Amino acid sequence: MCGIIGYTGKNNSVSIALEGLKRLEYRGYDSAGVAFFDNGSVDVRRCKGKISDLMALLSREEKPSSTTAIGHTRWATHGRPSDENAHPHRSGDIVLVHNGIIENYVELKKKLKGEGFVFTSETDTEIICHLINKHSPGLPLEDAVREAVKELRGAYALAVISEREPGKVVGVRKDSPLVVGVGDGEYFLASDIPAFLSYTRDVIFLEDNELVVITQEGFTTSTAAGEPVGKETVHITWDSTMAEKGGYDHFMLKEIFEQPRSLADTLAGRINTETSEVNLEEFNIEKGDLEKVKKIFIVACGTSWHAAIVGKYMIEELARVPVEVDIASEFRYRNPIMNGDELFIAITKSGETADTLAAQRMAKKLGAKVLSICNVIGSTSSREADSVFYTHSGPEIGVASTKAFTAQMAALYLFAVAFGRAKGLVPDERMQELLEEMLMIPDKIEKILLKEKAIEDIAKRYVNKSGFLYIARGINYPIALEGALKLKEVSYIHAEAYPAGEMKHGPIALIDEGFPVIVLAPRDRLHEKMISNIQEIKSRGGSIIAVTTGSGREIADMAEQLIEVPESVSYLQPMVMVVPLQLLAYHVGVLRGCNVDQPRNLAKSVTVE
Ligand code: AGP
Repeated sequence: MCGIIGYTGKNNSVSIALEGLKRLEYRGYDSAGVAFFDNGSVDVRRCKGKISDLMALLSREEKPSSTTAIGHTRWATHGRPSDENAHPHRSGDIVLVHNGIIENYVELKKKLKGEGFVFTSETDTEIICHLINKHSPGLPLEDAVREAVKELRGAYALAVISEREPGKVVGVRKDSPLVVGVGDGEYFLASDIPAFLSYTRDVIFLEDNELVVITQEGFTTSTAAGEPVGKETVHITWDSTMAEKGGYDHFMLKEIFEQPRSLADTLAGRINTETSEVNLEEFNIEKGDLEKVKKIFIVACGTSWHAAIVGKYMIEELARVPVEVDIASEFRYRNPIMNGDELFIAITKSGETADTLAAQRMAKKLGAKVLSICNVIGSTSSREADSVFYTHSGPEIGVASTKAFTAQMAALYLFAVAFGRAKGLVPDERMQELLEEMLMIPDKIEKILLKEKAIEDIAKRYVNKSGFLYIARGINYPIALEGALKLKEVSYIHAEAYPAGEMKHGPIALIDEGFPVIVLAPRDRLHEKMISNIQEIKSRGGSIIAVTTGSGREIADMAEQLIEVPESVSYLQPMVMVVPLQLLAYHVGVLRGCNVDQPRNLAKSVTVE
């Protein structure tokens, strides 16, 4: 997820672009740049680092007086954070900024190289620049853009300028947001409203495959195919802080709701539905190496450790290789038995968690091949690993991890399916079913998000409880752990999770009249066992909040509260089951007046022991 901005009007475009990028920095902050018209040519200034570094770079020269500019703040997906990978990118007269992920960039890059285009970056964005340049002779900029995007597969929001057409900015979007700000004789393009809210509250929301041309005289909107399209202007009443949260009250809620989109970004370009294969390249593990793997260690902290446990079930079931999961702070101080034919997977959203880095380094010293499943390109874990799988879930501002967690599970699923396939354990039709199910998960999560109000009502009923128990079985047990952690983190209520079969070994002593128990009971092969657990709890007065799939009448008669979620294959059910627990924790925390985005005592990345 990156932030882009475009401006043309009567004021200083570079100042406006920089200020807008500051407002978009929550969308990505590992490099930044601007391009602006200056005396008939387009100048580009860009650098690794934050907007403040770009501002310092520009402050060392005379302030440009340009009235048209584009800008970009990056969350790296293809190509590490660096000056040469920073946007804007240029090809001939064409200069552009891009938010999104181009799925077919490898084949397009090869084709363009064959046509003589010279690449200077590792980004997928640069291919768009060369494509527009290739199509631009004899065409107005908007038509060259139209021709270029016909060849793209994937997600993009673009702001494009050409030295041949001063004062014009062309914007086009598909699967990435792009909004138009309509000012008084000045016009804006941006990934999100905060970028220009201090200049105008009149906004046009572009839909997928729509294109806009802004000039000093005004703007026109059309489809990417060239058909004029009328768009209504919406007057925004949010303040800028509200706007940064996309209208949500908190980043945590925004990020819960972003999960369908962020999962689609995690999967982009990694599943080939025509051949029913997973693109293993990024795991950077040769098929031959995979076959030598006799054991896998997955090591992480906190929520990432919960993903690791889900991964164990996935990999052992699909690839039939033993998996040992450990909390990093434990692993680093024990004496693990490793003899060099293991694969060590570090799961870390930030890529900077001290315990996980220590464990990763220890595993490397013991001869294991290290794969990092990470969300931050260029982070320590990603740089020190033998291979990296980036989850592409964009910056996660809320301290309590939500969208990064579901992305981690998606990454582990792709690995497990690809590993099982490489070992000949997943036949063609099964492979197709497993991949189709994965691609349906974003829609299934969308369906749960529609139940937010009902889940908020449940939160209201239980907000004053002093303790919660979460129980589940099998692959959903780590989701019970995650639900309990989310509630603890953001509401400060004690909560713990147990494998449901453990109830009779002690935890059932907790149950008295009205004690809340969240029961994860999908209609899978362990469903009847979960029904028995519910009966045990009910008979002692416990209050059941059940999360189940399908219309389980039996459960409905026993549970005080029932949350029905869509069914999926067992390996993916955890990704669906966790969403109501995220929403429940969020609403309980808000009702208790807690700072759900920055809970007390917590940090987004635990870079110390
Ligand atoms: C998640 O909600 C917590 N904030 C925390 O447990 C987090 O998952 C843990 O610190 C690991 O972080 P990492 O994924 O960046 O390594």
